[in-house]
Amino acid sequence: ARPIIIDCDPGHDDAIAILLALANPQQLEVKAITTVGGNQVLEKITNNALKLLSFVDKDIPVAKGAPGPLLGKLVTGEEAHGDSGMDGPDLPASRFKPVDKHAIELMVEVIRSSEQKVTLVPIGPLTNIALLLKGFPDVKEKIEQISLMGGGISYGNVTSTAEFNIYVDPEAARIVFESGIPITMSGLDVTDKAAIYQEDIEALKQRGEVSHMVGELLDFYSIYSRKLGFEGSSLHDPCAIAWLLAPELFQSESYYVTIETDGRVTRGMTVADRRKKTDETANVQVLMDVDREAFIKLIFDALAVHDEN
Ligand code: BDR
Ligand code: CA
Repeated sequence: ARPIIIDCDPGHDDAIAILLALANPQQLEVKAITTVGGNQVLEKITNNALKLLSFVDKDIPVAKGAPGPLLGKLVTGEEAHGDSGMDGPDLPASRFKPVDKHAIELMVEVIRSSEQKVTLVPIGPLTNIALLLKGFPDVKEKIEQISLMGGGISYGNVTSTAEFNIYVDPEAARIVFESGIPITMSGLDVTDKAAIYQEDIEALKQRGEVSHMVGELLDFYSIYSRKLGFEGSSLHDPCAIAWLLAPELFQSESYYVTIETDGRVTRGMTVADRRKKTDETANVQVLMDVDREAFIKLIFDALAVHDEN
């Protein structure tokens, strides 16, 4: 199996991404889960990660990382994710605790001790990953790939140009995008096409315990989507895992992509050189489309695996 580290801020869609990865141990070995301030403050989202793992009985090392961006103050996603960062289901308190190490320390340990190169799956702001790459440049050659959720080369969701994960920490994102490590980007271009609709949410609630819990997560999460005028709810973060499991479900385009850190109306934008106006070579595989039904089936199947355990 491919060793991965999931760096996250759960987060409704983060939770589904984690469940999707854990249900496919033949393909993905989740070596660690690291947390970063994003959808809510660090304490809350770390607690959500632990509660989720406890609920599905997976004792995976969880380490707390950066509470906020490299510069400035944390902007949270409370509007979409609620006061806990993962409002909806009433999950029991966690039996697990975070490890007694900083996220960066745990990542370095996992990467250095792994026989195979490790794939990073950042699905929150990129603060931890930037700190890792700057602080421990030797680990770079042991990183196979970064499959991240963030950005969008067509539009943003916090401002007209910036997506949340990049908007929260543009400086960190720029370090990661310019690192030279192969990046596959699940941005809004594809994740808004990876939507789940109410009838699927109702169907989940008729199934086993874990599916039902995800149905409750999505009931809460879809309130915000409807507020925005969307019929479906975008399953952003699960795309970054789904691409590792079933790349054939996605269509992509490769571009040179960098991050705007200064713009008056474009701070946090993922700027793609779509018309080859620079001499830079493509550094990012940008996912643009997905077979939505097959993607939803992948998620249903994964949740069924958890239901049976
Ligand atoms: C991203 O922001 C967060 O709210 C979600 O968890 C996802 O990672 C979508 O813009
Ligand atoms: Ca997230």
